[in-house]
Amino acid sequence: MSLNLLTKKDLSAMLIETEGEKGGLKRALGPLNLVTLGIGAIIGTGIFVLTGPVAATAAGPAVVLSFIIAGVGCAFAGLCYAEFAALIPIAGSSYSYAYATLGEIVAWVIGWALVLEYAFGAATVAVGWSGYVGSLLQDFGVSIPPSLSHAPGTSMVRYRGRWTPLASLMGAIRARAGALPHAIARVDVLALIGILLMTAILVKGIRESADVNTVIVIVKVSVLLVFIGLGILFLAGHWSLGLSNWHPFIPPNKGQFGEFGWSGVLRGAGIIFFAYIGFDAVSTAAQEASHPQRDMPIGILGSLVICTVLYILVAIVLTGLASYTRLNVADPIALGVDVTGVRWGSFLVKIGAIGGLTSTMLVMLLGQSRIFFTMAHDRLLWEWAGKVHPRFRTPYISTIVVGVCVALLAALLPISTLDELTSIGTLFAFTIVCAGVWVLRREQPHLRRAFKTPWVPFVPIMGMLISLLLMFSLHRLTWEVFLIWLAVGLVVYSVYGHRHSRVQHQLAVANAEAARQTRHGL
Ligand code: ALA
Repeated sequence: MSLNLLTKKDLSAMLIETEGEKGGLKRALGPLNLVTLGIGAIIGTGIFVLTGPVAATAAGPAVVLSFIIAGVGCAFAGLCYAEFAALIPIAGSSYSYAYATLGEIVAWVIGWALVLEYAFGAATVAVGWSGYVGSLLQDFGVSIPPSLSHAPGTSMVRYRGRWTPLASLMGAIRARAGALPHAIARVDVLALIGILLMTAILVKGIRESADVNTVIVIVKVSVLLVFIGLGILFLAGHWSLGLSNWHPFIPPNKGQFGEFGWSGVLRGAGIIFFAYIGFDAVSTAAQEASHPQRDMPIGILGSLVICTVLYILVAIVLTGLASYTRLNVADPIALGVDVTGVRWGSFLVKIGAIGGLTSTMLVMLLGQSRIFFTMAHDRLLWEWAGKVHPRFRTPYISTIVVGVCVALLAALLPISTLDELTSIGTLFAFTIVCAGVWVLRREQPHLRRAFKTPWVPFVPIMGMLISLLLMFSLHRLTWEVFLIWLAVGLVVYSVYGHRHSRVQHQLAVANAEAARQTRHGL
């Protein structure tokens, strides 16, 4: 078969395919489900964990500005996602948009890169989830054996009656850790169980998954609102504390790029971007939305706006309650709540964090299986990945395969550096989606669009520029792994994808027919 790497999938054929499908995915999600799906994916490790370290090491109280900058960047991309998700309501998200606008090879690369966002993202979050669940269990006197509690090789010590990673202890205590009982972790069993549980829920059904997600979202948003409320009440009575903690708002740069000053605010935006990842996952549920044209923009932009406002308020309150210099801890929100003197606060925050991370895992696994499902439909991946369960109407095989692989990643890998891989994969997808909106506006300006990205090409260009800027702020190692990952993807494409591609096949048939007609002078 002759190979045209830039073959595009016909847009109208795509729409007919999804509309006419019998026995396909179930259209059961309304606007509220979609907004909660977005919030479910967005609020997680970023706000519950990263806010503190970013304030303490990069931006100071101006972490608020970092949140605003990252939020604005995401808003540009979000507007582009909204146009596409309403126009092409297909489970494949940016992969499908790229297929319709930029060609098969770009679509393949983006589909492959999304594994970094969704599968590695879910694994990263599962490890954080395991940490919080383990800590809560220890609050109730239940201790997971240290060898089963973390990634292989993690040094664990028993301190004040609790098993804890050596690296999380303060310097002075760590210095005398030799005298404490210690053990080496072999596998993170809780992370494994967490992913397998979410996988089972996803196999059972999209409606059930969305309902579980809605309950969890209510819990975690309530926890953040309670934190904001308690903080504001406390600060209202202790203004001088707040004013002294917010001063200097942008601590002076320490001589290195990214250590406070304006460069620190930018570095902070690059790291805190992780907190916004997830609004794009709403678009992977487009094929399961009851009225995608109307509801996809509501789901994507609604969840993004709600989370941005919550994040900014949390950051203002947190840096007012505690000096940024104290915030380099794994549970900064719990630390902030402790300042208010409310005793049940840190327990509440743990519950909120566990809920937060649970739904992030759920939506990321959902996103990954839907992308594989769509790629399998296009025959760029093996047929099994596109099989839908006859009763549950979910892509059960791809969900199970993804779930088992992610569970093993989460159980066995020390994932501390992999959150950057999640970010680079996501930013790459954002860049392509923004480019796609612009290209399609030029190529098919008269297409009926239910939602139109405003100010094209300004918004797509800004989306691309900010995404690229944030990509280049990431470490070299991340770039190396990213490029190796893409190279592996191209091998898989050349060995399987391009040989079986449905679009390539249709093109070959059409070309043969045209040649036949020419030969016969028709
Ligand atoms: N936005 C998600 C989180 O913060 C990925 O955990």
